[in-house]
Amino acid sequence: HTIHYEVSCPSTQPIAHQMAQSGAPDGSIVVCEEQTAGKGRMARVWTSTQGKGIWMSVIIRPEIPPTKAPQFTLVAAVAVTRAIEDIADVRAEIKWPNDLLINGKKCTGILTELQADMDRVHAIILGIGVNVNQQVTDFPEEIQSIATSIQMVTGKTVDRAELVARILHHLEIYTDLYVMHGFEPLKILWESYSCTLGKRIKAIMIHQQIEGLALGITSEGILQVKTDDGQIHG
Ligand code: BTN
Repeated sequence: HTIHYEVSCPSTQPIAHQMAQSGAPDGSIVVCEEQTAGKGRMARVWTSTQGKGIWMSVIIRPEIPPTKAPQFTLVAAVAVTRAIEDIADVRAEIKWPNDLLINGKKCTGILTELQADMDRVHAIILGIGVNVNQQVTDFPEEIQSIATSIQMVTGKTVDRAELVARILHHLEIYTDLYVMHGFEPLKILWESYSCTLGKRIKAIMIHQQIEGLALGITSEGILQVKTDDGQIHG
């Protein structure tokens, strides 16, 4: 595996994309101390304070068609949840699709990007941002009420290298499980960590926005929502 380390960079994602394009093998990672232009999902900004979190992109090359990529995002959420549990002895909950919350506040975000053609995924660039050792004032004011870090919850400083190693360990295990046995075992795990099911949610998707009760996820990894007219979507 290649480990590419930067002290400071705009974002680990484009570096990992470049590496993947140049043929970097499965399991290669880009990790840094600080991102000056960290990217979140839906074109949001991801605050990546120097030395306080895990800002990393992992190149994964599973043999799956592009249609299965959304499932893979859920696999990653399970792996990171397990790693946090092991290292910090705290249980994070997964908010659909792949935000990790502790005490209802966000401590981890996952951004899944693809290099693929019609029928084959060449690489998944899995961007993982974990708030590890921040104090509340390390976050911009506008997210202080919705963001948290592992240290804020446990009162203990976590060794980031240990957590990185554990995340990679679980990513490998769950990727293998997924590739060998399909989504079913992962679906059960994801649901057991989820705080979304049984709640009223508003799902914002590319083509539509729906509101209703989150019932479960399908074997395709799609959230099932029952709207007030009784219709089940997903
Ligand atoms: C989200 O919740 O919106 C996803 C956040 C993903 C953040 C990580 S940090 C490492 C990688 N590089 C980025 O610029 N973003 C991802």
